[in-house]
Amino acid sequence: MRQEILRVEATRNRRRFLKFLFSSPLLLGVSHQNNWAQQADAPGQADLRHAINVFDLEAVAQAKIAPHHWAYLASGGDDEKTLRANADDFDLYQIRPKRFVDIRQMDLSCELFGQRYPSPLFLSPVGSQKAFHPEAEVATAKAAAQRGHQMVLSSVSSFSVSEVAASYGRAPWFQLYPTDVWSVTEGIIRRAEDAGCPALVLTLDNGASSNRERLIRERLNSKVPCNACHTPGPQGYLSTRGTYRGLDLSSITTHLGVYTWELIDRIRNLTKMKMVAKGIMTAGDAALSVERGFDAVWVSNHGGRQLNSLFAPIEALPEVVQAVNGRCPILLDGGVRRGTDIFKALALGASAVCIGRPYIWGLGGFGQAGVAKALELLDAELLTDMKLAGTPTIAAITSSFVQRRQR
Ligand code: FNR
Ligand code: LAC
Repeated sequence: MRQEILRVEATRNRRRFLKFLFSSPLLLGVSHQNNWAQQADAPGQADLRHAINVFDLEAVAQAKIAPHHWAYLASGGDDEKTLRANADDFDLYQIRPKRFVDIRQMDLSCELFGQRYPSPLFLSPVGSQKAFHPEAEVATAKAAAQRGHQMVLSSVSSFSVSEVAASYGRAPWFQLYPTDVWSVTEGIIRRAEDAGCPALVLTLDNGASSNRERLIRERLNSKVPCNACHTPGPQGYLSTRGTYRGLDLSSITTHLGVYTWELIDRIRNLTKMKMVAKGIMTAGDAALSVERGFDAVWVSNHGGRQLNSLFAPIEALPEVVQAVNGRCPILLDGGVRRGTDIFKALALGASAVCIGRPYIWGLGGFGQAGVAKALELLDAELLTDMKLAGTPTIAAITSSFVQRRQR
């Protein structure tokens, strides 16, 4: 139902947005793709100002990103039931407003690991951002810094962690794909630590390549071979990702991560960075993560890209919150597209809420300004929702502000 409404709404918005773009004098009588790009890269960006929600950014990004890269971005596992559930299942919860609340002073700030942020919206790690825009993670970092959002950098970023830290003005959190060779794991952890990263995120749900049929199909149709950007195999792939550059990758057999407790303890002994367990979906794994020394738990199913038929993160959150029982912060991502989604996750116990695809839509469409716009739109929606619900601070958003849908 929600999906249907969103789709109708998105189509309507897209139509309006595209009509605006095509009616621009800059675009008359010329190929829209090129001029779109030119217009989007120009300062001022009147068109970007007309994006009223993140779905408008999605429409532009889809038109600008090469089809095979778009398929990589949009893909979920198998027939994408989990991908859809991630967004749809926010509708399983409804907001219970409170009246008689003074909402003249609003404060969206929150604290995590001793740092104060102006917004609880964080950026999930998304790899290979050059596939979406030439400025890639550098543009993302500048937008996140400009607005004070926490950026989490993918291990398989196009730019290296030190390059991104320089653009961000401080070090991002670093997400780790360790490969199956310890010297590589050690090498990239040291690079993250040398760059000053305060937290290391272990992605636990990506130990094997998943069946991304949308991507597979597009590859079969595409005239552009993957080795136009990187040679096949894990060595070819990783040698073009910034942080692995120059490391001896000759004996790795995978770029992904199979995490045993032995490996996790070895990593723990190597680094002083806070450790975050990303991909936790059950109470059991959440409890284990805390007991084995993780500093935060990240509820995620990798944006529906890995195991299909998995329930949505918003559905996993209550049991994880109960199991963690206040012992560490909890992050959540997957399907967050609206301020109300952020609100519901916060109400159910998340300390910070993260987005993947929506900021990449901004990046693909408009570079740094588009990323900033995606963040701005969601922050603005959250602010409005908080006012309307009667929660002037993030701490005020408690479980009494949501209910499980009755029918
Ligand atoms: C991802 N994600 C991801 N996660 C991770 O830990 N390391 C990574 O390198 C990547 N790369 C990546 C690439 C692309 C194209 C996507 C879409 C996602 C998963 C990401 O961190 C996050 O969990 C999801 O994107 C959240 O879902 P939404 O917001 O995209 O619905
Ligand atoms: C992905 C990997 C890079 O989801 O995490 O594509």
